[in-house]
Amino acid sequence: MLSLKALIFSKKDNMTVEVLKDYHSLSERAAGLLIEQIKKKKDSVLCFASGDTPRLTLQMMVEKAKAEAVNYSEIQFIGLDEWVGISPETSGSCSSFFYETFLSPLQVPKENIHLFDAMAADLQGECFKMDRIIGELGGIDVMVVGIGVNGHIGFNEPNTPWNLQSHVAQLHEITRTVGQKYFEGSTDLTEGITLGFQHLLDARNLLLMASGTGKSGIVKAALTEPCSEKIPASVVRRHVQSLILLDAHAASSLSPQAPAVE
Ligand code: GLP
Repeated sequence: MLSLKALIFSKKDNMTVEVLKDYHSLSERAAGLLIEQIKKKKDSVLCFASGDTPRLTLQMMVEKAKAEAVNYSEIQFIGLDEWVGISPETSGSCSSFFYETFLSPLQVPKENIHLFDAMAADLQGECFKMDRIIGELGGIDVMVVGIGVNGHIGFNEPNTPWNLQSHVAQLHEITRTVGQKYFEGSTDLTEGITLGFQHLLDARNLLLMASGTGKSGIVKAALTEPCSEKIPASVVRRHVQSLILLDAHAASSLSPQAPAVE
């Protein structure tokens, strides 16, 4: 049950924006929807971003596993991205985040886990491998993403073409700086390996989450400025079935009257 009824902020075409009271309510809503999806299709192909935004959602999915009798043993789990050159054992890597918060507690079978090896000598090969796996799995059922303060999703930085599949990206200065928050000491973050927006556009359902006032400016730009590769997250408005979950802080720059501009 939601602690606060979600306020439907706007529904336009196939995009729904919901504003929830706070991070906890937002996470509860997302976890509920994902559990519903898994109950409907136990071998759902789920792709997750790592980071602070989806952390509580993943933890709640773990917490609710027993009480709601959710069977996670058949899900297929895809990691959205990884920092190039960072090992999966390094605390702060996307892989270690996924194992700690979700995969290990739920004992998701190894063969159902698909994460980029960002230490691979052949990173392009890693990209092809991920694209092949997604194809073999029949595509992504739900793609759960966050948003960077510069509007990136995964490591699709501003001006990345929207028709890319997996690729290696040069990280923007702001991404390198903000990314330090995940690591214990100063860490060299130069490149990322990431799913592309073609994957996002092809996913059957898209869930974008944003929390906190720090995201309010970019959320407003992504949802109200003209759709453009300059604002990567504006791609969500091109998706056939997207749900944008915001907490009141992330939504604070939006006005309910402001219509989305195409
Ligand atoms: C990171 C990741 C993204 C993530 C975003 C927001 O750089 N590459 O996948 O969604 O930035 O992170 P957070 O949720 O910690 O704010």
